[in-house]
Amino acid sequence: MTISNDIKYVGVNDHSIDLFEGQYDVPNGMAYNSYVILDDKIAVMDTVDKNFTHEWLDNLANALGGRKPDYLVVQHMEPDHSANIVNFVNAYPDATIVSSSKAFTMMKNFFGKDFEEKRIVVAEGDTLSLGKHTLNFVAAPMVHWPEVIMTYDSFDKVLFSADGFGKFGALDVEEDWACEARRYYFGIVGKYGAQVQAVLKKAAGLDIQTICPLHGPVLNENLGYYLNLYNIWSSYGVETDGIVIAYTSVYGHTKKAVELLAEKLKANGCPKVAVTDLARDDMAEAVEDAFRYGKIVLATTTYNAEIFPFMREFINHLVERGFKNKTVGLIENGSWAPLAAKTMKGMLEGCKNLTFTDTTVKILSALNDESKAQIDALADELCMDYKAIREETANKNDLTALFKIGYGLYVVTSNDGRRDNGLIVNTISQVTSSPNRVAVCINKDNYSHHVIKQTGIMNVNCLSVEAPFSVFECFGFRSGRNVDKFENSENLVRSDNGLVFLSKYINAFMSLKVEQYVDLDTHGMFICTVTEARVLSDKETMTYTYYQENVKPKPETEGKKGYVCKVCGYVYEGDELPEDFVCPLCKHGAADFEPIS
Ligand code: FEO
Repeated sequence: MTISNDIKYVGVNDHSIDLFEGQYDVPNGMAYNSYVILDDKIAVMDTVDKNFTHEWLDNLANALGGRKPDYLVVQHMEPDHSANIVNFVNAYPDATIVSSSKAFTMMKNFFGKDFEEKRIVVAEGDTLSLGKHTLNFVAAPMVHWPEVIMTYDSFDKVLFSADGFGKFGALDVEEDWACEARRYYFGIVGKYGAQVQAVLKKAAGLDIQTICPLHGPVLNENLGYYLNLYNIWSSYGVETDGIVIAYTSVYGHTKKAVELLAEKLKANGCPKVAVTDLARDDMAEAVEDAFRYGKIVLATTTYNAEIFPFMREFINHLVERGFKNKTVGLIENGSWAPLAAKTMKGMLEGCKNLTFTDTTVKILSALNDESKAQIDALADELCMDYKAIREETANKNDLTALFKIGYGLYVVTSNDGRRDNGLIVNTISQVTSSPNRVAVCINKDNYSHHVIKQTGIMNVNCLSVEAPFSVFECFGFRSGRNVDKFENSENLVRSDNGLVFLSKYINAFMSLKVEQYVDLDTHGMFICTVTEARVLSDKETMTYTYYQENVKPKPETEGKKGYVCKVCGYVYEGDELPEDFVCPLCKHGAADFEPIS
C-alpha cells in the first residue's frame, strides 16, 4: 500500500488473535500498522506485534528496495508496536532509534537495553530532517501511555497518530469505521479525554491531509468527520440522540421490564433505543454505547445485598473511564430487600454532571401495576425533549416554559420622604451597555411602584446566596405603606442618592435614576441609568432557582387539599384555584401555584 510517493505501508494483519490486549474480542482481527518514509534518509515508523517478525521484516525489505533504513521512530512502547525493536536493530545495526525519553526507559525495562549508543531522544517541538521530509514530533502523553509521541511530516502533510484514530479489525476486512473505532477508543483511550483534547488542539494548528494510525485504515478523505468524532468522544459529548438500556436479568422479570420500557421509549419518540444484556453481549460494545448516547437506564437485580456481578463490572468500566454528562435512570429488582438502585447510584457518585431521573423503578420480583406505572413515568421523563421536538407530540402551549427563564433576586430600596422602604424583585435586567441602562419591573399593587414613580430613584441590592429566608420575610409578603421594613435595622448605610442599601447578604448594589416609564398594565417598567455601583463580595448572586431549592422553607401542605404558591409557599385550600387568584402574601398570580400532591 502506498500512502504517498515516498511513504509506504509495511504493517501486518492478525487474524489469529483471540483477545486484543488480553480482553477485547476482535472478530475481524487486528492490524499492526508500520510505515516507511523513503527520502535521502529513510525512517521506519514503529514495528509490529511479536508474532509477525518475519512478515514485517519482509514487507520492510520489499519497500526498501535494497536500501537500508537510517532511523526507527518508536512512537509507542506497547508491545503490539514495539515487540520487534530488537529484531530491527539486529537486521539493521547501523540505524538510529528515535523516541521519547520515557520510551527509552521502557525499552530498558522490556529488553534490558536502552540503545544509548544509537539513539536520538526527541520531545515536543523537535524535528528530524530526512531530506524533503521533515518529521515534527508532537508529545501525546497518556494517549494512551505516557511515552507516546505522534509525528507530523510537513512535506506530505501526514500525521502519524500512534494509537489515536485507530480501530479494531484487520485491514483486509471491510467494515464501518466508527463502530469499531468507537469501541476501541472507549475501551482503550476513554479515560484520557483531557489528554486527547490537548492533542486535538495541537492537531488543529497543522495542515493534515492524511492520518496514519497504528491500527485501522489510513485516513485520507473527509478528515473532518474523524476529527469531529474524536472531539465528541474526548469531550464526553453526545454523539447520537437516543437512550441505552443496560441490564442483567436472572429469571427474566427484569428483562421484561426493560422490554416494556424500550417499547414505551420508542412510542414516546425516542429516536434510538439500544438494549444490551450485560451477561451475554460484548461488554466493550455496552461501554461504547454508554458513552455514545446522552441517556442511560441501568436495570439490575439485588444480589448478595448488592448488585448482579455483570452490572457491577459494567459500572466499574464506566467510572474508571470518567463517565460524565449523562442522564441516568435506574430500575431495580429485589424479592425481599431491593438495594440495587442505591448501590448503583453510590457507585456512580464520583462521576461528574450526572442527572438522575426523578423516577426510579422498583420491581418486587415481577412487574405489577405499580412498577408498570413507574416505567410509564420513567419513559415520560426520559422522552420529555423528544416529545417536545416532534410536531405530533409537542404541547405548544406549555407556559411552564416561562419558569425556565433565569432570574436573580434583588431588594429594591426607595424612600417616600417619610421612611425607607424595600421590596423583593426578580424582574431586573441590564438592557443596554452604552450607556448602561437597567430595566426594573414592579407590580403596580406594590407601594414601591408608587414611591419610585414619584421620586424617580431606587437602589437595586443584588442578594447573594448567603441571604437567609428572614430577608425575604422582611422585604416580601408585606407592604411598606403599612410597616417600616427597616425598623429593626441599626446603622443604616446610604448611597450618594440618599437611599439606603443593605450592608450584608448582598454582593453588589447600584443606584438607578429613572429615564423612562413603560406602562405594562399590571406592572410598570422603569428604564434607568446607573448613577452609582459598588461590589461588596464575590459570593454568587441568589437566583430564583437557588432560593426555591435552598432557602424557601418547605410549605406545610401535610393533610391539606388545594394549591400551593411556588414563590412564597402560601397554601390555598379548595378544589379549584380561581384563574384570577392573586397570592395574598407575594402578589403572584394563579400561574405561580401548583396543586398539592
Ligand atoms: Fe496499539 Fe497502545 O497499543
